[in-house]
Amino acid sequence: MLTYEKINWKNIKSFLSLEITSEQKELMSTSHLQTLWNSFRIGYSELYLIKHENDTVGYVLLYPCPRIIKYNVGRLYIDKNHQRKGYGKQALLWAIEKLKEKGAPRILLSVHPDNIVARKLYESVGFNYTELCWGNELVMKYMCTEKID
Ligand SMILES: CC(C)(COP(=O)(O)OP(=O)(O)OC[C@H]1O[C@@H](n2cnc3c(N)ncnc32)[C@H](O)[C@@H]1OP(=O)(O)O)[C@@H](O)C(=O)NCCC(=O)NCCS
Repeated sequence: MLTYEKINWKNIKSFLSLEITSEQKELMSTSHLQTLWNSFRIGYSELYLIKHENDTVGYVLLYPCPRIIKYNVGRLYIDKNHQRKGYGKQALLWAIEKLKEKGAPRILLSVHPDNIVARKLYESVGFNYTELCWGNELVMKYMCTEKID
């Protein structure tokens, strides 16, 4: 079972030690330090470590902002030694539930067009493509309720 722990000064080292493959790095627009900086800079962001037993296996960055009805998944990241174990999907489903609890009518995220694994994962849980791009990334949308667009 996975658990989720907010980033803090005690667990930051395990966050910084997470790694992905060099091919995967090519498809990421932010490094760890940029992700960390964004999470501090944007007051409403929530950066969670994904834990399996005592191991930190990845992280997920959420941007819930009810004031402007913005609910985004900023990053989902699973360490290269822990990929293909179902953790990415479980963490994404957890993130959706977390944002729903906070009142999200829809959830947005962006993904590099060549990141086929991530695109398939997002599609498999119900994210659909929009016509938007953020930088060079495709924006995908998950509807929490059928009625609101
Ligand atoms: C994308 C990512 C989060 C997936 O995490 P994961 O824990 O390996 O994914 P899961 O094990 O939950 O698998 C999810 C699905 O992707 C498939 N998958 C995972 N890795 C795969 C690979 N290398 N090749 C083909 N399919 C793969 C799985 O088979 C699974 O499909 P299924 O539900 O039909 O069985 C992970 O590869 C990653 O962190 N990549 C680098 C960072 C990144 O690109 N993040 C996303 C953009 S922000």
